Amino acid sequence: MFKNRKGILLLGGLGTRLYPTSYFINKHFLPLYDKPVFYYSLSILMLMNIKDIIVVIPEQIKNFALENLMFLNELGINLSIVTQKKPEGIAQAFLLVEEYLEESSSVLMLGDNFFYGSNLSIFLRKILENKNSSILVQKVKNINNYGEAILIKDKLIDIIEKPKKSRAGMAVLGLYFYDKFAVKNARFLNKSKRNEYEITELNKFYLKKKKLDYFNMGRGITWLDIGTPGRMLEASNFVKIIEDRTGSKIACIEEIALNNKWIKSRELEQILSKRSINEYNNYINKILLDS
Ligand code: G1P
Repeated sequence: MFKNRKGILLLGGLGTRLYPTSYFINKHFLPLYDKPVFYYSLSILMLMNIKDIIVVIPEQIKNFALENLMFLNELGINLSIVTQKKPEGIAQAFLLVEEYLEESSSVLMLGDNFFYGSNLSIFLRKILENKNSSILVQKVKNINNYGEAILIKDKLIDIIEKPKKSRAGMAVLGLYFYDKFAVKNARFLNKSKRNEYEITELNKFYLKKKKLDYFNMGRGITWLDIGTPGRMLEASNFVKIIEDRTGSKIACIEEIALNNKWIKSRELEQILSKRSINEYNNYINKILLDS
């Protein structure tokens, strides 16, 4: 069991597939229906009760991040910000966060991945107890945009990044669980043809050493990624449908902090008293009144 886990939240990259929208602001700060994109990925780490979170952002928005993300500490998160001079792939994160990770095991979350489903936090917290490093997989229709986990008789034998031909279509999701050696192992990686330190290469390194397990998310949990305008719209509509129907919000970070007992109702009331009245804040207010 990995007790001292830290979360790494990747809010870097160029977001080229979202140009021109992402030209003016990093895609993770764009709206996904009623919240910024990164709220959804951040909330996944919070649902796993991970308080120490290292955010990786592009160097250009360092000041913006320092001014605007520090409020997360008020919710009980212990936030560190690490900057990336230029985006060089997902596994580059481990070359940047060493000093903050301090030999902890970690959970790496891509800022543009979205998960929703019943018992999601129970499912994820179970993976935290796994001794080996772990990846998540789920069957998709179009595997070509993802890493594909090759399973033979339920055994993970290989991972292929952006496969040209489709096999069983088991995609590797953007949420990874690593032991404390990820930084050391990432140093062995070379850049790929697309000039990136591929997370798939790191995973294959673990696989070769028989230190990688996989967990199938199955059909009951929705996984979306928000890399293109169409996907963003789809994910926004998904959130709107669920929230309108149930009256509960997906990825309300204040609600999760309260449920995790990271902050007290009194403290949340204080935070809320400085905010304007709108639908999101009214929702939090209602939670406070009901608690
Ligand atoms: C990355 C990974 C890929 C994974 C995907 C999940 O793809 O390289 O293996 O399936 O995230 O979102 P990229 O975002 O670099 O295209």
